[in-house]
Amino acid sequence: MDGGQITPYDPIVRAIVLVGGAGTRLRPLTWRTPKQLVPVLNRPLLEHLLLHLRQHNVTRITLAMTERSEDIRTAFGDGTALGIELSYEYEDTPLGSGGAIASVAQGWDEPFLVCNGDIITDIDLTAMIAFHREHAAELTMHLHEVDDPSGFGVAVTAPDGRITQFIEKPPRETAPSRMINAGNWLFEPSLLDEMNPTTFNRIEDGLFPALCDAERPIYGFSQPGGYWKDVGNSQALLTVNLDLVTGLIPGHLSADTQGVLIGGGTNIADADLQAPTVIGPDCQIGQNVTISGSVLWDHVTIESGAIIKDSIIASGVTIGRAVKIDRSVIAHGAQIGAGVELTDASVEPDEQIQAGA
Ligand code: GTP
Repeated sequence: MDGGQITPYDPIVRAIVLVGGAGTRLRPLTWRTPKQLVPVLNRPLLEHLLLHLRQHNVTRITLAMTERSEDIRTAFGDGTALGIELSYEYEDTPLGSGGAIASVAQGWDEPFLVCNGDIITDIDLTAMIAFHREHAAELTMHLHEVDDPSGFGVAVTAPDGRITQFIEKPPRETAPSRMINAGNWLFEPSLLDEMNPTTFNRIEDGLFPALCDAERPIYGFSQPGGYWKDVGNSQALLTVNLDLVTGLIPGHLSADTQGVLIGGGTNIADADLQAPTVIGPDCQIGQNVTISGSVLWDHVTIESGAIIKDSIIASGVTIGRAVKIDRSVIAHGAQIGAGVELTDASVEPDEQIQAGA
């Protein structure tokens, strides 16, 4: 800054990451692992996001939480290990995106970034910050183009990027655009005066449409060809793992895996591991096992002759001899007996399934 003047490239260093959701769509995996800690390339989902922020010099980060999750604190602590300053704020009851942002940022006098805590993207935040400054925006929204926008907030933009209309989850046939709210926003602190920090409210339903209706300077920023994934359900979690292990985000943590990542302490007999596949740490994989298009978490045991395809196998699962698993999600500690065949299954934690049952 120069004598109080904002130059286009003044950095934005503060962020709020919203991590207080229940993760219901990711059950049964989230019964025992909070969404932020589900593994992506054998690291917690949230770690990817935090490292992305650090890469763009956004290093003072507050996690907006609804429950005191010691697991998350144990994983990330004060952020020093990741080279960031991490703090935690808790809501007594869920406040929604609007309430959470307003309560965490009360008293902040500088612009800040807000991120949904379940997104993996390579968006160039440095360029987004420059764009925000150059356009003197009150709010800049990361937009991403999708085929079917009906499950998202949809934005219509003018040629200069200004958002003229914002509609939450329109039917596919009537959606006015395929550019969706990608869950990263730059906020000017002045917006906090218009937000309610005490009762549940969602910016997607309140603030965004209101700013558009009032023709305020709210802009969309997109990166054609960029990577973006909302890790909302198990299919998305599988896809993001397989995308990253094949290097879809160049230079990301996946470097040089050749499409197969194997965690430390894992023992593999004579198995056929077909890319893309991610195997967690401390697993035991028996002879003649075939694994393709799948993600195994830690401490998974797979006995000889099993075939695992397009599936997620969570921590501590045991899979018996000659089991066949296809397009399924097997939650923590489940035991799948010899010879069982599962397709499109969702197995609960500690569930035991025997052949013929
Ligand atoms: P579902 O229960 O499956 O919808 O998952 P979710 O609530 O975790 O995800 P959703 O896509 O609905 O929310 C987007 C992000 O906002 C996620 O990172 C959530 O953790 C977070 N979030 C959702 N509601 C709240 C809230 O009331 N308070 C806070 N602090 N964060 C929230």
